[in-house]
Amino acid sequence: MRALAQLLCATLAASLSLSLAANPCCSNPCQNRGVCMSTGFDQYMCDCTRTGFYGENCSTPEFLTRIKLFLKPTPNTVHYILTHFKGVWNIVNNIPFLRNIIMRYVLTSRSHLIESPPTYNVHYGYKSWEAFSNLSYYTRALPPVADDCPTPMGVKGKKELPDSKEVVEKFLLRKKFIPDPQGTNMMFAFFAQHFTHQFFKTDHKKGPAFTKGLGHGVDLNHVYGETLDRQHKLRLFKDGKMKSQIIDGEVYPPTVKDTQVSMIYPPHIPEHLHFAVGHEVFGMVPGLMMYAIIWLREHNRVCDVLKQEHPEWDDERLFQTSRLILIGETIKIVIEDYVQHLSGYNFKLKFDPELLFNQQFQYQNRIASEFNTLYHWHPLMPDTLQIDNQEYNYQQFLYNNSILLEHGLTQFVESFSRQRAGRVSGGRNLSPAIQKVAQASIDQSRQMKYQSFNEYRKRFLLKPYKSFEELTGEKEMAAELEAAYGDIDAMELYPALLVEKPRPDAIFGETMVEIGAPFSLKGLMGNPICSPDYWKPSTFGGEVGFKIINTASIQSLICNNVKGCPFTTFSVQDPQLTKTVTINASSSHSELDDINPAVLLKERSTEL
Ligand code: HEM
Ligand SMILES: *[C@@H]1O[C@H](CO)[C@@H](O)[C@H](O)[C@H]1NC(C)=O
Ligand SMILES: *[C@@H]1O[C@H](CO)[C@@H](O)[C@H](O)[C@H]1NC(C)=O
Ligand SMILES: *[C@@H]1O[C@H](CO)[C@@H](O)[C@H](O)[C@H]1NC(C)=O
Ligand SMILES: *[C@@H]1O[C@H](CO)[C@@H](O)[C@H](O)[C@H]1NC(C)=O
Repeated sequence: MRALAQLLCATLAASLSLSLAANPCCSNPCQNRGVCMSTGFDQYMCDCTRTGFYGENCSTPEFLTRIKLFLKPTPNTVHYILTHFKGVWNIVNNIPFLRNIIMRYVLTSRSHLIESPPTYNVHYGYKSWEAFSNLSYYTRALPPVADDCPTPMGVKGKKELPDSKEVVEKFLLRKKFIPDPQGTNMMFAFFAQHFTHQFFKTDHKKGPAFTKGLGHGVDLNHVYGETLDRQHKLRLFKDGKMKSQIIDGEVYPPTVKDTQVSMIYPPHIPEHLHFAVGHEVFGMVPGLMMYAIIWLREHNRVCDVLKQEHPEWDDERLFQTSRLILIGETIKIVIEDYVQHLSGYNFKLKFDPELLFNQQFQYQNRIASEFNTLYHWHPLMPDTLQIDNQEYNYQQFLYNNSILLEHGLTQFVESFSRQRAGRVSGGRNLSPAIQKVAQASIDQSRQMKYQSFNEYRKRFLLKPYKSFEELTGEKEMAAELEAAYGDIDAMELYPALLVEKPRPDAIFGETMVEIGAPFSLKGLMGNPICSPDYWKPSTFGGEVGFKIINTASIQSLICNNVKGCPFTTFSVQDPQLTKTVTINASSSHSELDDINPAVLLKERSTEL
């Protein structure tokens, strides 16, 4: 009798948990960005509105969609075209009309993939006012996997994911340094880290789904401080400038003691090396501090330029206008130097907000968790840092601002321009010194209930991979991944991005680019300064300020602020090439001078 009761109970419990586990949206039935909504405990409906598809699962294309799909080239084809046919692109690049059309297409086709206004977050897999209005959350490109789903990835894969430490050790950890075939250098790596830390600022006190960066974009809080209080502590309140100090005749940030802003430094670091800048973690990596110093100098330089134009302006106006100019310079450099380098395109990208003025485009942005996760490009980092003729391991390098003072910015720029960064995709290229960071990003992705890699591929209009071999393009890791995850549809986003087969001679695989680029371009062009009412000379103090933005480049930024105007780019140059240029710099009119801005700018930098 008792046994029977127990059996009944167990059956009841099982059927109960079964009906609970039957959240019908767990299987992601809705295709083509249709929205899944449960209707009762075991039914669902797909909302296909404006997807261009119809049917129970939004899987049948409408007539026009069918034609578009038929005509649309695959992302890999587009990538191939853009990275080949150099001769053709050289012509297109010089015909403004064509260049504009193509750039407009790049911007709109990418940014249409980002929902704006934003929608979901870690706690809201459906639209809600709370998710829209609470800026402390990162937004989400895909809603979280519901808590009552049978497996961590919904319905696919095993009940438990493989141990994150093992995933890192088996698939991500570097055996031997793999240099990036695109020639990315450490100037790029630290620019990436410095630039993105203004909008990837996880609030670890609240949890991985929350951010301290309430501006959600390029607001330069990493230069000026996130809060007004911090900004005021960093400002000189004279001529619009930021506080600074002179060491060995060069401009450096003020100290924590001078400013009373909080910075993170370990206790053993002497006080005079506690530099204070906008972002409180930038004391950790001298490469970050290098860029912080460069932008600090740039701000004060721009203030001088503006004051000459506007002796009538007060401190506040000079400060605010300089900040807008620096935001513009940042976006210009990111699109035309940084993204240009990463893309490997022979098409010349262009920063021109006017391209979007006749388009449907929202001038707003919200940073997504997935964007943060995919930007953990830690494989860029080599095993040691080479500065001048010295080699620093991480223990010597981190939190060591004295390295900066010892070598000076000029040697930093020269050395970082020469040192090659690591390839990001392709697997097994993460320095052991920072393996914990990769493990944390896997753990946090799980905490935030990310959907599977293949669901993200679909969200960004890519075909889901059918096998692990298709993902990695090889057999060994593929077999081990299969053993660990069981099902390609249960593969996690972050490790997949890092093990994905890179495109030919490229730093990334397809998915990193096709998901990263939409977030990136939306964030850059969604900035208020790109909107029609802002994007005009008067916003930036007149033609002089506008011109600072429109002529900005990584080379001019360095040249204007680092003694001696060292040559720089975001990739290591063919050593032969650099040598020729440097040695033959004076014998102008050589063909190489045209492509070496350092030579062109050198004369102007003698004031430094
Ligand atoms: C010296 C080199 C570096 C070190 C020591 C380092 C270390 C770290 C650490 C400790 C975290 C926090 C991890 C956590 O607890 O969640 C982090 C986060 C991050 N790192 Fe790095 N990193 C380095 C270089 C880079 C580079 C070159 C990039 C390039 C883009 C990068 C991108 C990021 C991003 C996007 C985050 C997330 C930030 C946030 O959400 O607040 N890091 N890194
Ligand atoms: C829609 O998806 C469900 C679940 O994946 C499937 O059982 C059903 O057959 C699909 N319906 C159509 C019309 O394809
Ligand atoms: C945003 O949401 C978090 C988590 O629910 C909450 O702690 C915080 O107070 C909210 N912020 C605002 C401004 O309402
Ligand atoms: C910091 O760098 C200096 C070189 O400027 C070096 O002598 C010192 O050992 C480094 N500090 C640590 C803790 O490694
Ligand atoms: C410098 O230019 C001259 C011709 O102007 C050439 O003969 C020489 O080889 C160049 N030097 C180097 C190091 O390439």
